[in-house]
Amino acid sequence: MLNSLPKRPPDKIIKLIQEFRDDPRDRKLDLGVGVYRDASGITPIMRAVKTAEKRLWETESTKTYTGMVGEAAFRHAMVRLVLGRNAPFDRIASASAPGGTGAIHQGLELVKEGSPNARIWVPDPSWPNHRSMAAHLGFDVEFYRYFDFENRNADFDGMCEDLSGVSRGDVVILHGCCHNPTGADLNRGQWFKLADLLLEREAVALVDIAYQGFGDGLDEDATGVRHLASRLPEMLVAASCSKNFGIYRERTGVLLAMSEQASVAGSVQGTLTHLNRQNFSFPPDHGSRLVTMVLEDGELRSEWEAELAEIRDNLRMLRSMLASELHQRTGSDRFGFVAEHRGMFSLMGASPEQVNAIREKFGIYMVGDGRVNVAGLSKDTVPMLADALVSAGI
Ligand SMILES: Cc1ncc(COP(=O)(O)O)c(C=O)c1O
Repeated sequence: MLNSLPKRPPDKIIKLIQEFRDDPRDRKLDLGVGVYRDASGITPIMRAVKTAEKRLWETESTKTYTGMVGEAAFRHAMVRLVLGRNAPFDRIASASAPGGTGAIHQGLELVKEGSPNARIWVPDPSWPNHRSMAAHLGFDVEFYRYFDFENRNADFDGMCEDLSGVSRGDVVILHGCCHNPTGADLNRGQWFKLADLLLEREAVALVDIAYQGFGDGLDEDATGVRHLASRLPEMLVAASCSKNFGIYRERTGVLLAMSEQASVAGSVQGTLTHLNRQNFSFPPDHGSRLVTMVLEDGELRSEWEAELAEIRDNLRMLRSMLASELHQRTGSDRFGFVAEHRGMFSLMGASPEQVNAIREKFGIYMVGDGRVNVAGLSKDTVPMLADALVSAGI
C-alpha cells in the first residue's frame, strides 16, 4: 500500500523555510513564513499569555479529558470577541478545534453534512489551504476575483460580478480582516453591499478570521463579520487564536455556526460534537484555557490589548516606512498601497522570476507570488527591501 502513494510536492512555505536556513549568507531576510516578529526578530510569547500560563500551572489540578467541543467558557468568550456583545448567542453553536485551520476543516465538514453538493467559493488569491482543504474534502471549488493587481486594492466590482454566479446554498469563503496574502481589505460600505449580495444569492458565508486586532483594532477588524452576522440567516465563522494571542503551536481555534432559528442551534451543536469526535475526539485544551483567562480577567485583558496595540503600531510603522523609502527611490506614489494595507502581508506584484532574483541577489526570501510578511522587517532592513524591489524593477 505505502509503495503506491503518489509523491507530493513539499509545501511551498516549508520549502522556503528550509532554503532560508540553508542559505549561508549572514545578511539574509525571511519575509516568507507567516508569523509575527517583533523589532528584535523573535516571535514573543505575549506577556498576558505568559502570566496566564503561570497561573494555570499553579492552579490546574488535572489533565483529564475535557468537553468534546472544548470548554463552554472558551467558546462563549470567543463568540463575544469575534461577534461582539450583541451576538445572537441563542442561535450560535460552536466547537473548539486545532487552530484556525482545524476550525475551517470542521466548518467544511459541517457543510458536507448539510449541503454536500455546495460549491466552495474561494478568493483569488487566498491563503492556499482554502482551496486545497475544500478540494481534499471533495468539494467543487470556484474562484472569485479579489485583488486588483493594477491598483493593489480589493477588486470589489470583479468580486461582485463573480459572486453573482453563486447558487443557493453555495459557501463563500471570506477573510474577516487583514487579507492573506494581499493585505487589501474590504471597506465598511463594501461589506454592506456584500451582505446584500449574499442574501440575494442565498449563499452561506464562511468567514475566516485569523488576524483580529492586527489591522485597526479588535472591534474595527470585526466590522465585516459582525455586519454579516446581523444580516444573514446562517453563517459559519472560523476564528484562529494563533496570531493574536501568539500561541501558534498550541493549536487554538473555534468554529461558530450561526443558524437561522434558535430551535436549530441544538441539533447543529450535536453535529459539531459528532464531527469533532470523528476527527480527533477532544480538541487541544491548553491554548484555549489561556485565551479564556486572558479574555475574562480584566488585568490580563488590558495587558493583552496593549500588546496587540504594540503589534499594530509596529506593523503600521514598518508599512509607512517602506512606502516612504520606495517613494524616495522611485519618485512615484505607486507603492502608497503598502501603507494602506492591513495586517502582516502585502502582495508586492512581483513575478516568480523577480522573487527569485531578489532571493539570489539580496538574500530576501518571499513567497513565490511576491507576498511579503511586513513583520519580518525591522527599521534596519526596510531600506534593504526597498533597494531590492526597485532593483528587480517592481
Ligand atoms: C487566512 C488564514 N486563515 C487561517 C490560518 C490558520 O491559522 P492556524 O491554523 O495556525 O490557527 C492562517 C494562518 O496562516 C491564515 O493566514
